[in-house]
Amino acid sequence: MTDLAGRFRALWDEIAPVGRDAGSGGYLRYALTEPELRLREWFREQAEHRGMPVTADGNGNLFAWWGDPQAGGAVLTGSHFDSVPHGGAYDGPLGIVSAFLAVDEVRGAGVRPDRPIAVAAFVEEEGARFGVPCLGSRLLTGEIAVERAAGLRDAAGVSFAEALGDRPAGADPALLGRFAAFVELHVEQGRALVETDASVAVASAIWPHGRWRFDFHGEGNHAGTTRMADRRDPMLTYAFTVLAANKEARLRDAHATVGRVAVEPNATNAIPSRVTGWLDARAAEPETLRGLVGAVQAKAAERAKRDGTELTCTEESATPLVAFDGGLADRLAKLLDAPVLPTGAGHDAGVLAAHLPTAMLFVRNPTGVSHSPAESATDADCAAGVTALARVLEELACR
Ligand code: GLV
Ligand code: MN
Ligand code: MN
Ligand code: MN
Repeated sequence: MTDLAGRFRALWDEIAPVGRDAGSGGYLRYALTEPELRLREWFREQAEHRGMPVTADGNGNLFAWWGDPQAGGAVLTGSHFDSVPHGGAYDGPLGIVSAFLAVDEVRGAGVRPDRPIAVAAFVEEEGARFGVPCLGSRLLTGEIAVERAAGLRDAAGVSFAEALGDRPAGADPALLGRFAAFVELHVEQGRALVETDASVAVASAIWPHGRWRFDFHGEGNHAGTTRMADRRDPMLTYAFTVLAANKEARLRDAHATVGRVAVEPNATNAIPSRVTGWLDARAAEPETLRGLVGAVQAKAAERAKRDGTELTCTEESATPLVAFDGGLADRLAKLLDAPVLPTGAGHDAGVLAAHLPTAMLFVRNPTGVSHSPAESATDADCAAGVTALARVLEELACR
């Protein structure tokens, strides 16, 4: 094990137990709940340990600064602590742990940056608690209205404003204006790096994607006594819609997933009165995504007519195609001798890319599995990620 891989492991082990579910081995680190708050505390300790003052933007995002927070021209790196339900260890935290270690690497080499370097922890990247992904970066950039964000509620009815302890501050152009670039390091969430046999890659683009809530309303009734012909069963319409989404996505080489469902009253012996399913859809091109979602909606509506059910469909979030700064991506790919590739996963970098030059580094994931307890990365690849990020920080902040 190299020295750096050992240092990575030592720091990683500090956070590895936080929020891990003993049963699944996955993580339950929802934004602003106890495990995530513990990691935010850990973030402050790491920053303090390095003499980096921490600032908050009033939206739930934290920034640790090496250099003067007011100076401008800063290079920002970092990621998020929150997870999907029973998520993997690396999605998010790897970018923050690597950022602190990359700062150590630059410092340890005796380099004094000409511009500040800041490490960010963005809040509610996954949207697992309040439903809208990248909520912190959307607020900071003004891509979501404060009113809407403040009123988003979790499953227990707690609003984002209540969880935050205040109404979110919203867009902060002055803070954004102090960043010259953002580079987010992230575990890869596919197998492209395994296939290219590289430990680190640079991102070219993020597929356009979004979330649509399908509410199927029917008639709750007795499972034993209601004749099949008399039923208005929303579960049927829902089930058909899931199959249609899968088929339409395959036809277009796109991705469609229904990974979350709520059933009322959720009883084995009752025909449901209502089924809600959330469609996550993604495609390489915006037209393909529009076509996919339109086709699923049309097929669901047609089927609802047949089943005697009613359907309402609500777009809960939409993220346009993100093409990362091509000049910056090429520069970093040359610097690191790394492949450049697109991804279907969403990131805060995708939100910030519309506001400042932004790049992403991906660290190889041996199985490609993510949003699952089985997500993994080797210490050697994580160390290679830190080395790459340190070189990038030096390149952007010292020249
Ligand atoms: C976030 O990780 C997403 O791509 O859904
Ligand atoms: Mn994720
Ligand atoms: Mn992530
Ligand atoms: Mn993500």
